[in-house]
Amino acid sequence: NEVKKVFSGIQPTGDLHIGNYLGAIRRWVDLQNDENDVTYCIVDLHSITLPQNPLELRNNSLRICASLLACGIDPNKSTLFLQSSIKEHSELCWILGCITTMARLTHLPQYKDKSAAMKEIPLGLYLYPVLQAADIMLYKATHVPVGEDQLQHLQLALSLTKLFNHRFGKTFPMCQAMVAEDASCRIKSLRDPSKKMSKSDPDPKSCVMITDTPEVIKGKVKKAITDCTSEVTFDPLTRPGVANLLTMHSMVSGKSVQSICDEVKDVDTGKYKLIVADALIEHINPIRIKIEDYLKNPDHLCNILNQGSDKAREVAEKTINEVKIKVGL
Ligand code: ADP
Ligand code: NA
Repeated sequence: NEVKKVFSGIQPTGDLHIGNYLGAIRRWVDLQNDENDVTYCIVDLHSITLPQNPLELRNNSLRICASLLACGIDPNKSTLFLQSSIKEHSELCWILGCITTMARLTHLPQYKDKSAAMKEIPLGLYLYPVLQAADIMLYKATHVPVGEDQLQHLQLALSLTKLFNHRFGKTFPMCQAMVAEDASCRIKSLRDPSKKMSKSDPDPKSCVMITDTPEVIKGKVKKAITDCTSEVTFDPLTRPGVANLLTMHSMVSGKSVQSICDEVKDVDTGKYKLIVADALIEHINPIRIKIEDYLKNPDHLCNILNQGSDKAREVAEKTINEVKIKVGL
């Protein structure tokens, strides 16, 4: 059994919602085992590709660190660190930037979406996916857990891997995406279940955050958009709101959607929301309390990140030395 080298990153742009947790972070936690060599990076360099508030960014990096630890990321089992503390990310990004073309980057959908309404487009935004490729390649990752929306960026990392290996000799392994099995675990907005739950949604009631108190969770779930049928049935196409409640409930409780539907066959959707709220609270509240505890001791968080950086730096320096020799630097 070959060791999987897992790499994934998360931007410190704000607290995590339950979609991030159920769709991504919970898998990150599961990947920490003896068969895998696991690296998780808080990608703060990616967060300055759009204008940032410096104090807020620093604070968010610590909050994300606290959140990941509270969700079960174990610094003894994974390498957890801040991207900007390892200068080799920027160095490899530059080298990869020199072997990619403008044409290759211009058509990437995320760049197109983010830059569409901008008058002045930052160069960093354009380089965003090259930095992402550098993150992955620096640790010679073989497995990259990503959301579906990141697949095009992973394609770029793969073509840069091939191109570099072809031009300078075999250096980087081909990596593969680990996409969550099916779209059924995609959590929807509570206010508009035709859209995914996203922290960029301007309506704060659309997301349950893992930092929400029980009262706040109850309030948001009570106001979740459902429909005018009172029974609780799972039909994502015609009843996306109720299906979303069932999906979240099933994912936090470990019960199947069918067994939940059987359990609540005499309950209307209004009362069912209270049951879902309780299930979410039972799962999230202990995480919220742990986050608060971690945040009481920022020095401890910095120590954890520094220890992670020390581990990451060993690998990063080795890769960049090899790369520089091959490139002639
Ligand atoms: P957001 O849209 O809230 O900004 P990101 O794009 O930063 O989320 O995604 C971070 C991670 O969380 C990705 O791996 C993504 O697949 C996952 N994720 C984001 N939103 C959801 C969702 N609604 N349901 C399931 N997973 C999600
Ligand atoms: Na491990």
